Amino acid sequence: MSISASDFDWIRMLVRRSSAIVIEDGKEYLAESKITPVARSHGFGSIAHLVQEMRQKPDEKVCRAIVEAMAIGETYFFRDPQAFQFLRTNMLPEAMARASATKRLRVWCAASSTGQEPYSVAMILFEHFGGDPRSAGWDVRVVATDISLEALSRARAGRYSQQEVGRGLPAKMLVRHFHRSGLDWQLNDDVRQLVEYERLNLVEGWSGPMRFNLILMRNVLIYFDVETKRGILDRVFHDLEPGGCILFGSAETVNLLDARFESLSEAKSMWCRVRR
Ligand SMILES: C[S@@+](CC[C@H](N)C(=O)[O-])C[C@H]1O[C@@H](n2cnc3c(N)ncnc32)[C@H](O)[C@@H]1O
Repeated sequence: MSISASDFDWIRMLVRRSSAIVIEDGKEYLAESKITPVARSHGFGSIAHLVQEMRQKPDEKVCRAIVEAMAIGETYFFRDPQAFQFLRTNMLPEAMARASATKRLRVWCAASSTGQEPYSVAMILFEHFGGDPRSAGWDVRVVATDISLEALSRARAGRYSQQEVGRGLPAKMLVRHFHRSGLDWQLNDDVRQLVEYERLNLVEGWSGPMRFNLILMRNVLIYFDVETKRGILDRVFHDLEPGGCILFGSAETVNLLDARFESLSEAKSMWCRVRR
């Protein structure tokens, strides 16, 4: 299926309006490859037919499927090992020390995609507590959110292909926390249950503040324009406990946008503490 210039423009207008993701010129190939399966699965013979129908009679479900398909979901376990090492050796011990009186720890993975990121955090928590954190008397929860219902449903299942576990997951973690399920690997229930999933569109806002000790907001701000980024950072700022830390993706230079975030940046990864 090929895509005309006007259909491409309509798709990117819809995606921008609903998710704030900016699809740049020259990304027609991406729209073609992502929207062709959406058109087929909803019974349209072509992208042109799909767009024509949605322009005349927008269907919320189909429009949402278009937006979700264009939300770029690339992710893998322990993506950017340096960032996870910093989480393991600095951010987490410090957050736990601050929370030692209440023994309540909340981590938020915003834009969690298919779950590899929140489960990487959950496995680090298991490592840190030498087992299930809840058995150690702590009230620990990882809240993972994403705009894509399809990504969330895959994440909740915690089932990954050989290729997916082959990307970034250390062998000892695979052996410890997964078991075979047919050709795939199934994450064990104890780790899976540490993470709760919810749909959240970062540009629509949320009722808050949510009071997190740690936030991971990685590889999602890069898709938004500067104003949208600022709006999201403004809200996120209020969701962090005092002294809380936020980890961004390696390509994000958030401290340049908002002076309330103090950069603890090192080499490639980007982590920030809130100045208060
Ligand atoms: C490239 S993935 C990053 C996944 C993970 N954070 C990582 O770094 O591996 C970007 C994710 O952002 C989600 N996303 C895009 N726009 C969003 C929005 N407006 N609100 C919430 N999530 C969004 C996509 O569905 C996708 O799962």
